[in-house]
Order: sequence, then structure tokens, then C-alpha cells
Amino acid sequence: MQFNFEKLITSANGMLPTSVYIAISEAAANAKADVLEVGTAHGASAIAAAKGLSEHLLVKTIDRLQGGSRELYGDIKQNAAMVNANFIEFGVEDRIQLFIGSSEEVAPTLKFDNGIGMLILDADGAIDRDFRLYYNLLKPGAPIVIDDYHASSVNVMRSLNGHCVIDQKHRLTALFIDYFEAKGLLIRDKVIKETYFGVKPENKNVDVTFDLDDFILIYRQLTFGKGKSRPTFILKGLEGLKSAAPKIYFTLKKIFRPRNL
Ligand SMILES: C[S@@+](CC[C@H](N)C(=O)[O-])C[C@H]1O[C@@H](n2cnc3c(N)ncnc32)[C@H](O)[C@@H]1O
Repeated sequence: MQFNFEKLITSANGMLPTSVYIAISEAAANAKADVLEVGTAHGASAIAAAKGLSEHLLVKTIDRLQGGSRELYGDIKQNAAMVNANFIEFGVEDRIQLFIGSSEEVAPTLKFDNGIGMLILDADGAIDRDFRLYYNLLKPGAPIVIDDYHASSVNVMRSLNGHCVIDQKHRLTALFIDYFEAKGLLIRDKVIKETYFGVKPENKNVDVTFDLDDFILIYRQLTFGKGKSRPTFILKGLEGLKSAAPKIYFTLKKIFRPRNL
């Protein structure tokens, strides 16, 4: 029976559009080794990858499970229980390993005997960190999926305590993608909504040394950012709506990106 990708949004709190989950699953079908993901949240993208992956391969997914939007779902233990329950619900508990901690903390504990077969980055926009940690482990030709790609998205929001919050995660991601493409480290396949699908070039079979001075120049471009500003949507107050009127809830969620500030 065909897998219902819509269910990832309604049952696993998936934050990406269905079309992106389908494309992740299709890209995973091309992976020649285990998949690594940074940014599990509730597990939706990891489940999509597991559904497409060859039977003998695994998805390793990293999340710190605390801070930001994770605070809405309890402490680390409660978040982990929720993610693992989703893996069971979708029948992929033997195909996905959850690693709790920040990308930097977890990276030295990971083992990839055959390299990484696909990389999914959907965390905090610091994709320079994850390229440094994982790029040389990626197999040439491996799919690279990067969410939050939007060159002119600067979100200016007001937090619950009245502070001004400026989120340039999408812009930072776009600046780094441009840079990695220009350096010949990444080849674009397609962009669906705000998710970038690329591959590591087949000829990149020697280790790459990343130039931190170049990275600093990219971060300097964040001093001033110009772009569209989205209204804040406080997810917390709308949890009741989610069970009472899920269609309205998910429509609102698509229009206003959820924030927990
Ligand atoms: C946008 S959500 C991921 C959405 C998920 N991929 C999906 O399909 O619904 C981003 C997640 O990244 C995690 N995160 C942010 N920065 C991180 C870091 N440096 N290391 C590990 N996880 C991080 C957050 O805790 C959050 O759960």
C-alpha cells in the first residue's frame, strides 16, 4: 500500500509541505549508505527518509530536543518519548536511530563505516558547521537536502516578553548554499517551496578543507538584512485548536510559521 505522506503532518507534527516529504523519500531511495539528519523535531523528515531508503540502511537523526520550539513539548525525556512513539506509529523504529544533543556534541560519537549516503539539514541555519562536520564523510553523488532556503527572508518578530527578534536563518542558509555551489561542493537539483535539494559532486572524492575566513565574510553579511517580515504565530495558545479543528490549525500553521519565543 502506498505511504500516506499527509499523515506525517497530522500525526508527526511535520513542519514541511507534503511535496517536500515525498521528495525526501525519493532522494533517500538513491542513498548508497546510511542517512544523517540534523533537526529531528517530531521525526517527520526522518520517517519520510526511512520510508524511501533501501531496507538494509538506517537513518541517524540528531536533535538537541530542548530550547526553542521543543519547550512546547516538555523536557528532553518527554520530547524523546514523543519522537520514539512516532517512529513506532509509522513502523520505522528499527530503521531510525535518534541521537540527542547538538550537532557538534553528537558528531564525534557517530560511526559511518560506509560513509554517509544522504545528508538532511533542517536545524538552525548554521549549515557551515554541518558541512565542516559531515561533508568529508558524505559519499560522492549523495543527496543533500537543506531546509529554510530563502534568499530574502528576514523575519522580524515580537517575542512574548516584548523583545524584537530578528531571524535570518533562511538568508544565512541561502548565502551558504550560494557559496558552496560557487566552490563546486554542491550541485543544485531543485528547490521545493523553501527546501533545497542538491547532490555532492561525483568528483569530490578527496577531503575538503573549509576556509573559516570565507565563513566569517558570509556571517558579516548578516549585519543588515532586508526582506519580508512574517507575523508571529504563538503555537502554544492554539494547541486546543489542533485537536478541535485540525484543518483550521494546519492551515494557520502553513500561513504563519509557528514561533515559540
Ligand atoms: C525545523 S525543526 C525540524 C523539522 C523536522 N525536520 C520536520 O520534518 O518536521 C528544527 C529542529 O532542529 C533542532 N536543532 C536546532 N539547532 C540544532 C543543533 N545545533 N543541533 C541539533 N538540533 C538542533 C531543534 O531542536 C528543532 O527540533
